[in-house]
Amino acid sequence: MKLFLDTADIEEIREINRWGVLSGVTTNPSLVAREGQDPDVVWKEILETVPGDISLETTATEADAMYEEGLLLAQKAPNAVVKVPMTAEGLACGKRLVNDGIKINVTLVFSPAQAILAAEIGAYIVSPFLGRLDDVGADGMGTLRAITEIYAVQGYDTNVLAASLRHPMHIIESALAGADIATMPFDVFTKLVKHPLTDAGLEKFLADWQTLKNDLKGEA
Ligand code: E4P
Repeated sequence: MKLFLDTADIEEIREINRWGVLSGVTTNPSLVAREGQDPDVVWKEILETVPGDISLETTATEADAMYEEGLLLAQKAPNAVVKVPMTAEGLACGKRLVNDGIKINVTLVFSPAQAILAAEIGAYIVSPFLGRLDDVGADGMGTLRAITEIYAVQGYDTNVLAASLRHPMHIIESALAGADIATMPFDVFTKLVKHPLTDAGLEKFLADWQTLKNDLKGEA
């Protein structure tokens, strides 16, 4: 399962990229708006920093306008993936982009039925939002499992991207469910690396090493 960052903050992206585990980035209009800068500047920096798939989202709501916007987004870089919403207009636009050979990510997916539609138009990525389902008392992880099972049974090759992830267990269970990609905020990414036994173990190793060095110095 590939790990993506769900952010438009270039400093966060640079930090996780430095770890060598970052395969891509997802952005959405809210995340880009949070940066308070020209979106083209924000996207350019991200596209140049991470060589993997970078999702850039359309904001038009009607298919023709969304298609024109999608063409412009796709032209920004070879690693740009155009995000379209799971609406009838998004599907119509997405199908045209797919026919043009453009990689699309169908976003705001909340049900297996919607995920079937995304696969049927040949989407490169489908993004079920787990955390937002959990927020309204629905079963985000169950929805993801149903989607990965349907895709396996049907032989769909659309990549399943587990989105709206809130904590490390979401990542672990998404991997077990067979998601192709998990995208998460910076704070969740940093929690993946942490374990108190790692910290305690390292502290002891370093203390013992220092003791040895002191002993050797005392003998000299
Ligand atoms: C995915 O592409 C979305 O940007 C994202 O995962 C939404 O997450 P949120 O529900 O935390 O806003």
